[in-house]
Amino acid sequence: MNQRKKIIAANWKMYKNLAEANDFFTFLIEKLPKTKAEILIAPSFTSLWHAFETTREHPVEIIAQNMHQEEKGAYTGEVSAAMLKSVGIQRVILGHSERREYFGETDTLLKAKVNTALQNELKVIFCIGEKLEQRKANTHFELVKNQLQNALFELNKSDWKHIVIAYEPVWAIGTGETASPQQAQEMHQFIRETIAGAYGSDTADAVSILYGGSVKPDNAPALFSQPDIDGGLVGGASLEVDSFIDIIKAV
Ligand code: PGA
Repeated sequence: MNQRKKIIAANWKMYKNLAEANDFFTFLIEKLPKTKAEILIAPSFTSLWHAFETTREHPVEIIAQNMHQEEKGAYTGEVSAAMLKSVGIQRVILGHSERREYFGETDTLLKAKVNTALQNELKVIFCIGEKLEQRKANTHFELVKNQLQNALFELNKSDWKHIVIAYEPVWAIGTGETASPQQAQEMHQFIRETIAGAYGSDTADAVSILYGGSVKPDNAPALFSQPDIDGGLVGGASLEVDSFIDIIKAV
């Protein structure tokens, strides 16, 4: 058994208003199973402070779905790292494929966001993953390697303590189609080897790599039993307390 942290992270995307988030936390706290895994939940910005206050006595970490790369300024509608910190947040998801696809976030921009997050002592869940056409063209390994290199490979070795990778094949997100445990393991192992090539196997072996893309209670056990899969980043199935708890139990 490796010593890596097991993590189950919920990405709520643009779902749940404050009252709905509150209901979720009330039930979750009642039903939370004992687990060695870290439980992370990313609600919308409008629920962050309330979620943080509601869960502060419990083994649940509230995290953010995004942040802006500048420290402050005239960026209407944006949220800074310091603002997240001010409501108790210590970790942020960056590079989600929906941010890349719908908001034009590039590797260069994401590199700036990662650097800003780390400078502000925010940990990062960094998402990478290929689209279907890239997998069909057999360029998925190259693409994932580029995503890693372009955004993360100028970090110092010591920064990697604060990084978690989430491999999310775009074709599996919200589609009900999941990567097979073998496909996911193959890519997770490749990601770990790529990090090892740049930073050494001590660093690579310590990085948690989560799988995301239609994780559900029924497919979670087989995915999480793979040697390089250290947990999941869960969208749809994290919106219901019961299915989220079943996924926590599977890790
Ligand atoms: P999904 O989303 O579980 O609904 O596929 C995962 C994600 O986008 O992080």
